[in-house]
Amino acid sequence: MKYDLEYVLDSALDGVFIVASDHRLVLFNRACEELYNISREDVMDKAYWKLSDFQQSWDIISKKGGKISYGELGAKIERMELNHKGGRQVWVETIYTPIFDKENGEIAYVMGVIKDITELKRVEDEKKCLQNELVTIRRELESQYDFSTIVGNSPQILHALKLAAKVAPQNTTVMLAGESGTGKELLAKAIHYNSPRASRPFVALNCSAFPDTLFESELFGYEKGAFTGADKAKPGKIALASGGTLFLDEVTSMSPPTQAKILRVIQEREYEPLGAVRSKIADIRIIAATNKELETLVKEGTFREDLYYRLFVYPITLPPLRERIEDLPTLIETLLRKFHHAMGKSVRGVSPEALKVLMEYHWPGNVRELQNVIERMMILSKEDRIDVADLPRYLVDSARTRPLKSKTTGDLSKGMSLENSVHQVERELILQALQKCDNNKTRAARMLGLTRSTFRYKLSKISPEYSLVPDYKVGSV
Ligand SMILES: Nc1ncnc2c1ncn2[C@@H]1O[C@H](COP(=O)(O)OP(=O)(O)O)[C@@H](O)[C@H]1O
Ligand SMILES: [Mg+2]
Repeated sequence: MKYDLEYVLDSALDGVFIVASDHRLVLFNRACEELYNISREDVMDKAYWKLSDFQQSWDIISKKGGKISYGELGAKIERMELNHKGGRQVWVETIYTPIFDKENGEIAYVMGVIKDITELKRVEDEKKCLQNELVTIRRELESQYDFSTIVGNSPQILHALKLAAKVAPQNTTVMLAGESGTGKELLAKAIHYNSPRASRPFVALNCSAFPDTLFESELFGYEKGAFTGADKAKPGKIALASGGTLFLDEVTSMSPPTQAKILRVIQEREYEPLGAVRSKIADIRIIAATNKELETLVKEGTFREDLYYRLFVYPITLPPLRERIEDLPTLIETLLRKFHHAMGKSVRGVSPEALKVLMEYHWPGNVRELQNVIERMMILSKEDRIDVADLPRYLVDSARTRPLKSKTTGDLSKGMSLENSVHQVERELILQALQKCDNNKTRAARMLGLTRSTFRYKLSKISPEYSLVPDYKVGSV
C-alpha cells in the first residue's frame, strides 16, 4: 500500500502540526483538533499566531526578518494550558523541530508534536503538594522533638542534654543508657532532629520485639524470592532510615549472629538484604539504647566486646526519676498542660499533700509511669486540683509503707547532722512553695517570706541550674 502522509499523521495519537515559513499552518492532524478542540478548517492556511491559544507557542517560533527562524526554538519544549470552549482545561507539551529547506538550508517549516500531559501535570502538582506537606510535617516534628521538650532542670538531666546537644551535629554513634521510661527514645529523636540528618527519617527498631530470623529481615530487608512467601522485595529498616538515623532500642536483646551482622554494618557501612547478591551502602547514623548494664553483659560473654566498643563511643546516661525528684513539679506541670491540650480538661495543679506522696514514690517506670498517672488523674479528678484521694491506691500505699523519712522533721536515726536536716526541710518547703505558686518564683519567695534574690540563691543550691536557666535552651549549652 502506498501510504499517504496526512492519513498516517491523522492516525497518530500525538498532535502534529506544521507551520510554514510564512507562518501559515499547513498541517493540523486529528489529534491536534481534539487537543485544541478546534476544527482544522478553521485554522488551516491561517497565520499560526492568530489563534489565541497559539500565542504562547508563537513566542517560540519567533520571527526574524519576516521569516521563521530557529530563534528560541533552542528551548524546543514548551508546556501550556489550553482552555476549551466547554470550560475543560488541557495541559499539553509541544516539541518543536525545524525542517530545513534542502536547497538553501534555511528553515522552511517548523513541526510541532503535542502531547496531552494533563494527567502527568496532575501527578506532578500532587507530588509538589505532598513535598510541601512533608516539609511542614518535618518542621513540626523538629519542633516537637526539640531539646527543650525534654523537661528537667536537675544537674543530671542538664548534663545529659549538654552532652546530647554537643554530639547531635556529628555522625557519631550514640549510646543512651537508662531505665525504661527515662526518656531515651525522646532524647534520641531530639538528637536526630537537631542533626544535619533532620530532613531524613528517624527509624526506631526494638531489638527485643522480634525473634532472631524475623529481626534480620526487619533490619536488612529481603529481595523477592529470598524465601518461600517473599513474593515481593521489602526494604529493611536500614534502607528506610537511609540518610537519617536508625534507633536500635534494647540492643542487648540481639542474638550473637545478629550482633556480628550489625557490627559489620557499623564497621563497613555495608549490609546485604536477605537473598541479595550485592551489598548495599548503609547511610545511617546509629543511636542505640539499653536499660541493662552493658559492661556486665560483656563480662558474662552474652554481648560481643568488639560491638560494645563500637557502640560505646559516646554514652549518655539518663537518670531515673527518683534520682532527680526535684524535676517532678516541673514535669507534672508540663504533663498537666500537655493533657489539657489533648483532653480539653483543665487541672491547675497538685495539692502539697499529693505532691508529697508523689515525691516519696520510687517511680520504677520513670517519666512514662508519671505520664500514665497524671493522665489517669486528669480523667478522674473532679476538682481543678489533684489531691491525695485522686492518686492511685498503690502509689499512696507505697509511699505509706516506705520507711517514712519525714523530711520536715529531719532524720536523726541515720545520724544526719543538723545542717543536713535543715537543708532537707528547706528544700522540701521551697519545692512545695514553687508547686503552690505554679512555679512562679516571685510568689513562692513571698510565700516563704524571703526576698527574691535569697530565694533564687537557695533554689540554686537545690539545683544549681534551676534558678539560672528557667527553660532549657540548646543555645545555653
Ligand atoms: N524528660 C522528659 N520530659 C518530658 N517527657 C519525658 C521525659 N522523659 C520521658 N518523657 C516521656 O515519657 C515517655 C517515655 O519516654 P521514652 O523516651 O519512650 O523512654 P525510654 O525510651 O527510656 O523507655 C514518653 O512519652 C516521653 O515523651
Ligand atoms: Mg523505650
